[in-house]
Amino acid sequence: MNVDSPSSGLGYQSGFGNEFSSEALPGALPEGQNSPQKAPYGLYAELFSGTAFTMARSEARRTWMYRIQPSARHPAFVKLERQLAGGPLGPVTPNRLRWNPLPIPAEATDFIDGLVGMVANSGLDKPSGISIYHYCATTSMQRVFFNADGELLLVPEQGRLRICTELGRLDLEPLEIAVIPRGLKFRVELIDSQARGYVAENHGAPLRLPDLGPIGSNGLANPRDFLTPVAHYEDGQRPTPLVQKFLGELWGCELDHSPLNVVAWHGNNVPYKYDLRRFNTIGTVSFDHPDPSIFTVLTSPTSVPGLANLDFVIFPPRWMVAENTFRPPWFHRNLMNEYMGLIQGNYDAKAEGFLPGGASLHSCMSAHGPDGETCTKAIAAELQPSKIDNTMAFMFETSQVLRPSRFALECPQLQSNYDACWATLPVTFTPNRR
Ligand SMILES: [Fe+2]
Repeated sequence: MNVDSPSSGLGYQSGFGNEFSSEALPGALPEGQNSPQKAPYGLYAELFSGTAFTMARSEARRTWMYRIQPSARHPAFVKLERQLAGGPLGPVTPNRLRWNPLPIPAEATDFIDGLVGMVANSGLDKPSGISIYHYCATTSMQRVFFNADGELLLVPEQGRLRICTELGRLDLEPLEIAVIPRGLKFRVELIDSQARGYVAENHGAPLRLPDLGPIGSNGLANPRDFLTPVAHYEDGQRPTPLVQKFLGELWGCELDHSPLNVVAWHGNNVPYKYDLRRFNTIGTVSFDHPDPSIFTVLTSPTSVPGLANLDFVIFPPRWMVAENTFRPPWFHRNLMNEYMGLIQGNYDAKAEGFLPGGASLHSCMSAHGPDGETCTKAIAAELQPSKIDNTMAFMFETSQVLRPSRFALECPQLQSNYDACWATLPVTFTPNRR
């Protein structure tokens, strides 16, 4: 028999990096200490550490769980025959790459089987770098998964998801994002018949809100708009496959119970979601563009101040009011490596070819910017305040070069003529007329 939390409704706690606490049964949280000799209701106390014990207090992430059975109660993991799609990394290329959206598979595919590795820059055994996946799923997971290799940033493009985690449930829809801490167990259920989107796996320092500098104490993504679930447990003796990703490989074992059996918890190592429509977008009110870092939602820093292991940046609907300004994103070459995706609508730097569910990669020092058509229009435009609407593009930006997977380099979705979108840029130089 399966007995779940008395309240199976969804609930959220708001804030970022807080010391949250939640209990699905009254009094399940011990008072005044973390691991009493006898925890309430006969629960086991278990510490879930997301950072080394000795990190600075401002960096430390950990959560105390009070659970029906401790996580240690599992048999040996065995390497699974079916591994993640995408295959090994292929040869590195300085070329600009762009992909059409991946097709939704015809056969039943859960979130894990539907993950396709696209690019990565990590040795996995080092605490830095990122891996980027696309996912296409057509059925809910019947198994529970955790990722020992990094935290996961989910960016849905199609289809709503219910993410059932050890710490509670998150419902997620396109234009929202979710972050699952490294090692947290979860199951992804589909609310709609199919789901597609993007995942950035962050092997480095956990994502956090960027500092705001001269912007001040408000703006961009505000802490109160981040939502963390409330406790919800599954108390059943149902056989449950548990799968983990460890150094890039999938390993599995079979439990005789659901591992989503945490009745109460407190801490700051938690999953959370955020609605991108809540982003307080800031831009110029005079001329020129601020750098796109003004659109940073979350960042994973490196030890070099200002150099990110991963920046998650969005290009949301916004007013364009700059005077005497070339308004599309400017032409540039970047130290950083930019992997872009599109959740809905069009991206203002490209007239065509960059589709929702698709992606592009501009690596370190590869030149890019608006395509010929967009550029010509922008130079000729009579500038009025105008609103870019119905759009949500985003970027995973990282300081180390991204290497595409074999799949990414060989799949039919890789566009063969991406360079051509800049071939029509006209020469407008007139040396005798300024
Ligand atoms: Fe760029």
